[in-house]
Amino acid sequence: MTNRELIEQAKKAMEYAYVPYSHFKVGAALLTKDGMVFYGCNIENASYGATCCAERTALFKAVSEGVKNFEKIAIVSDSGNITPPCGICRQVLLEFMPEGMVVLENELGEIKTYSVKELLPIGFTL
Ligand code: THU
Repeated sequence: MTNRELIEQAKKAMEYAYVPYSHFKVGAALLTKDGMVFYGCNIENASYGATCCAERTALFKAVSEGVKNFEKIAIVSDSGNITPPCGICRQVLLEFMPEGMVVLENELGEIKTYSVKELLPIGFTL
């Protein structure tokens, strides 16, 4: 699957975002090495800290179903700007796809790719 196709999948996933507090919709599409796609959106909560980001929703859906062979993840928002993963999500990405890639779309509609290690250099691991 191309990076552009994965971005389009992330935009579809974004439609289900539950964002009554921030009104900031995020979608993610997570591609496995054998071509499966897991979708995620951000899911907010009245207790704000209980919110789950779109990337972690997709990752946790996959891991909870026994899948961990991830190749790349696309992340989009409805902001019109590039939407890089937050710090907590970078740590979770490092846990499950340290050799993986993150696919983003900038405000010009251009696709940008970053390695997980580039986004979280000298990351913490046990
Ligand atoms: N959000 C994500 O879904 N992913 C990120 O990496 C950044 C932040 C969500 C969390 C919250 O629902 C909203 O964006 C505003 O922070």
